[in-house]
Amino acid sequence: MATRKLRHIDACLRGPVSYETVTTGFERYRLPYNALTQTSLTAVDVSTMFLGSPLRAPVLIGAMTGGAELSRTINRNLAEAAQKLGIGMMLGSQRIMLDDDDGAAAASFEVRELAPDVLLIGNIGLAQLTDALVPKLAAALDRIGADALAVHTNPLQEAMQDNGDTDFSGSLARLRQLAENLPYPVLVKEVGHGIGAAAAERLRDMPIAAVDVAGAGGTSWARVEQLVRYGEVRDPAIAEWGIPTAHALAEVRATLPGMPLVASGGIRTGLDAAKALMMGADVVALARPLLAPAIESPAAALDTLHAFIEELRICLHGCGVADLAALRALGPPTVS
Ligand SMILES: Cc1cc2nc3c(=O)[nH]c(=O)nc-3n(C[C@H](O)[C@H](O)[C@H](O)COP(=O)(O)O)c2cc1C
Repeated sequence: MATRKLRHIDACLRGPVSYETVTTGFERYRLPYNALTQTSLTAVDVSTMFLGSPLRAPVLIGAMTGGAELSRTINRNLAEAAQKLGIGMMLGSQRIMLDDDDGAAAASFEVRELAPDVLLIGNIGLAQLTDALVPKLAAALDRIGADALAVHTNPLQEAMQDNGDTDFSGSLARLRQLAENLPYPVLVKEVGHGIGAAAAERLRDMPIAAVDVAGAGGTSWARVEQLVRYGEVRDPAIAEWGIPTAHALAEVRATLPGMPLVASGGIRTGLDAAKALMMGADVVALARPLLAPAIESPAAALDTLHAFIEELRICLHGCGVADLAALRALGPPTVS
């Protein structure tokens, strides 16, 4: 499994793994610009709370990796950046940790000492979830000092993967069982093909803490899996399938009005983030843009994230608002 993780990383570094025709949809919205803003950029405050944790910016590092030695470097560099910036971090799938007896894989997820104050979110695939796994999962989360668990649901990715887990029957009942019994808040996320209205409807009345829409327009995992499996994209149409992130966000917000939401999937700029927050996201997450900097150094990861957050702060300044509550009070952005 560690080898597959490395092949994923390799494919994501080499590319092209982004959607080619589908976009997030955020480009169709216009951020309102106010030339007579009365804010001072240095005083713009983008701090918020998410899952009971304070964040200095409404940003999470997206779930990426764990297991291999390179994954350890990536996770540790990202954790250091998250701690310095006061943002949250999602780890990659911990499945590899659950079958690991000597603790070698666990080491790649152990970042708590570098990030004592960070909102740290563990990860597991819905397709791999069994009721018997719940105690092991709780122990794995204890071990890494996680604050919450993200469960990724990825039927399209698994279907494109060589020997992927393609039986999702009964998975909703297992998700409920987990959310009811795990002593950690549970988030539900996709991996870049999107949670839309139909999936959100199935989460209604489920005791989950948040939904990450992880929509289309950024990294296409149906593309990554084809590149890993065949060395080429044999089915370009299916690689372009997904719910664009802006649509997914609007649909889930309408279906689950009170649900804390993460907007992710192709979030690339502070401008994207500002629009997503105005459309009802509580925080945003980005994954693949952080991969190369995270391999390079903690400073490179920090620089990338810092520039992103600074752009978001400039957006608030240019909108004429000094904090996120005032940004949200402007209402959703208009379609241009
Ligand atoms: C190298 C890499 C590995 C990933 N591994 C996981 C994973 O283990 N679990 C998960 O939930 N998502 C995983 N993802 C998906 C991301 O969390 C995210 O949902 C997706 O890439 C879309 O966001 P992006 O367009 O910002 O990359 C991974 C992404 C990347 C780039």
